[in-house]
Amino acid sequence: MCGIVGYVGPNVPSSRPQGVAMDGLRRLEYRGYDSAGIAVHTGDEIVVRKRAGKLQNLVDAIEADPVPDGVASIGHTRWATHGGPTDVNAHPHVAGDGALAVIHNGIIENFAPLRRELVEDGVEFLSETDTEVVAHLLARAYDGDITAAMLEVVGRLEGAFTLLAQHRDQPGVVVGARRSSPLVVGLGDGENFLGSDVSAFISGTKRAMELSEDQVVTITPTSVDVVGFDGTPATGRTYEVDWDAAAAVKDGFPTFMDKEIHDQPAAVRDTLLGRRDEQGHLVLNELRIDEAVLRQVDKVIIIACGTASYAGHVAKYAIEHWCRIPCEVELASEFRYRDPIVTERTLVVAISQSGETMDTLMAVRHAREQGSKVLAIVNTFGSTIAREADAVLYTHAGPEIAVASTKAFLAQITGCYLLGLYLSQLRGYKYDDEVAGYLEELAAMPDKISTVLDEQQERVRELARSLKDEDSVLFLGRHVGFPVALEGALKLKEIAYIHAEGFAAGELKHGPIALVDEGTPVFIIVPTPRRPVLHQKVISNIQEVRARGARAIVVAEEGDTEVEQFAEFVIRVPRTPTLMMPLVTTVPLQIFASEVAAARGLDVDQPRNLAKSVTVE
Ligand code: F6R
Repeated sequence: MCGIVGYVGPNVPSSRPQGVAMDGLRRLEYRGYDSAGIAVHTGDEIVVRKRAGKLQNLVDAIEADPVPDGVASIGHTRWATHGGPTDVNAHPHVAGDGALAVIHNGIIENFAPLRRELVEDGVEFLSETDTEVVAHLLARAYDGDITAAMLEVVGRLEGAFTLLAQHRDQPGVVVGARRSSPLVVGLGDGENFLGSDVSAFISGTKRAMELSEDQVVTITPTSVDVVGFDGTPATGRTYEVDWDAAAAVKDGFPTFMDKEIHDQPAAVRDTLLGRRDEQGHLVLNELRIDEAVLRQVDKVIIIACGTASYAGHVAKYAIEHWCRIPCEVELASEFRYRDPIVTERTLVVAISQSGETMDTLMAVRHAREQGSKVLAIVNTFGSTIAREADAVLYTHAGPEIAVASTKAFLAQITGCYLLGLYLSQLRGYKYDDEVAGYLEELAAMPDKISTVLDEQQERVRELARSLKDEDSVLFLGRHVGFPVALEGALKLKEIAYIHAEGFAAGELKHGPIALVDEGTPVFIIVPTPRRPVLHQKVISNIQEVRARGARAIVVAEEGDTEVEQFAEFVIRVPRTPTLMMPLVTTVPLQIFASEVAAARGLDVDQPRNLAKSVTVE
């Protein structure tokens, strides 16, 4: 939510500061696209350009009114919180007669009293944002040292924030501060970078440095200095980013979402890599929780939001089946407000692609305060949730740029399954050979996902085009097919803006069946016929909706001929063990949503009102 980039380069003015800021914003635009802006320090002054709307509006504005060469820059792409998406509310915000520019991600919760104080002091505000308060506070505190001003000001701020600032009198310096909001340092050669995530500067450097909570960082072309909010010197862990700029391009696909749908076989395969020792035993290296503690676990609570929470719902079936431990799944945004029963024997599993989702982060903190261990299943290396959890199991899906999550979902399910199998092996519920058998089944999934992509894609896209003008689409599933139905509906809602609902198929007759009308498209996720009781129940559900005029679109295993007589349209997936089915049945639903959105002329990667990485509660 809001993308931030900062750059300081050699002392000789060039076009690079502007280039780095604009390239960073292009890569970060998925984090928010209500407005975009940059400030370039020319060496003498700070030049700001900002525009409401997509980044292209800023590009056009700069073309009409070019920015001079410079030595440093900051850039911001916004997801609006305080104040609508207008030019004036766009960042950077300036103060001190243009001497100081600041950009911000997060929310300053005490901005109202601070603003009152500043107004009483005679300050005139231009925007409705909470950020402008910080700009004026910094300008007031500035006494020749922007780092000192930042340290003074952060002490007065409540809420979550990443801030970057530069001052006219210090051309080669950008200062950043972070509290509960992401900020990473990019370490260059004679130049340094700051970014909301490494994609902000990946084309400049792959060497990155993590920052911790409540730290201020000052970058110059040749130095990176970190201090705590209390002024204590600190250092951050440095690491090499294991993907490059090429991983964050569309690679010939029309959208990032399409590319990421096609990345899924690799995402699952990479998440499984290196998980077995020489004897073939499952090992999870990033698991830093004592085995004795894990043996004592008497309850698992999965916390996550949106798509990640549906991965948790899928995992519940596997974890309870394999480990015989009760497993609850809870929306992270609800968790800490209901006084959850968590003890030292509870294992809380936080699932997050970005590792920065504020609701999930707050739930993680709450769980740890209650004394339980938290294991994070996270895709983004070095992210806040990964750092604050007691243990982390990284999914290796690579950067996910499209706002709608696809490959991260399949990688999350895979990561959860690895955890479930590990726990069952550790606790003696499954013998090593049984665990090995499940791992082999998982290892076969990338090829099966490829089969769905190769054989079903064109048919599903055609179906999508024929249904693009529908008002409402329903999705039904049982057992692990239920969270798949929820995910199918979420994808369609968020990128195609079509009313869609996912239901447990058995629940339909308790109310939602009233939504079914003549011609209503209903997707039904059918379990394998090798689970006859479950299969039969879903066949009955198909008949129930058909009897009310629904168009039944069925996702079924190859060889399941029984479904044909009840379906208008059958999407085939390869023969797959029940628990692994979500890894293949989700794929056609993602393709369907992406094609419906494209056919409706919508922006598939950047749907309205949304942003990737939701860093506000
Ligand atoms: C939907 C989607 C969101 C995220 C949710 C959690 O396509 O992307 O529902 O799954 O915001 O995000 P992470 O996984 O980053 O915590």
